[in-house]
Amino acid sequence: MQPIQLAIVVGSVRAGRVGPTVAAWVRGVAAERTTVEVVDVDLADFELPNSLVPCEDSERFTGIIGAADAFVFVTPEYNHGVPGALKTALDTVKYEWRGKPVGFVSYGGLGGGIRATEQLRQITAELHMVSVRDAVSLHRVRKRFDESGRIDDAAAVDALGRLLDQLEWWADAVAGARGRADYPG
Ligand SMILES: Cc1cc2nc3c(=O)[nH]c(=O)nc-3n(C[C@H](O)[C@H](O)[C@H](O)COP(=O)(O)O)c2cc1C
Repeated sequence: MQPIQLAIVVGSVRAGRVGPTVAAWVRGVAAERTTVEVVDVDLADFELPNSLVPCEDSERFTGIIGAADAFVFVTPEYNHGVPGALKTALDTVKYEWRGKPVGFVSYGGLGGGIRATEQLRQITAELHMVSVRDAVSLHRVRKRFDESGRIDDAAAVDALGRLLDQLEWWADAVAGARGRADYPG
């Protein structure tokens, strides 16, 4: 069986952001699986216009999303919601998200980003994606990682394992279904 192409999307683009530290941990765990090939997608590497006017970067971004089988969105919570850059990225692409599974790794202050995750469940349902039940939520994120990027949260490690198991299951199921018929949407 071919390894699934798992895109890990860093949803924050802020100067001094924590996002890449969280994403590096997710990447390290996912890359241990021989059944998974990780694709890094950092939104800071793209200029995606809020006007949603197609441009070189939006085409490049769409191509990467189209080639992926499954996604992990690594997202902070800003003012109880999804960061603007991630919402714009979701709105930029249409068909290439469809019929694909997604899992959420959120982080923040005391809330651990769970409101961003719940909003993303609504948004990704509208995009015809399948969101997996298990999610990771890291509260007080700056205290969770040591200087070498190791995490101190055993529950989060367990949750990430379940999230990846569920993503792999759905990616396999969807690949089989896609081979039989086009997605009806
Ligand atoms: C504009 C802004 C709004 C924030 N709002 C929240 C919030 O509603 N809930 C929360 O738990 N943390 C909130 N925080 C704290 C962030 O979750 C925390 O700073 C985190 O590191 C942001 O992710 P980033 O560093 O990858 O940008 C906010 C931070 C910023 C910059």
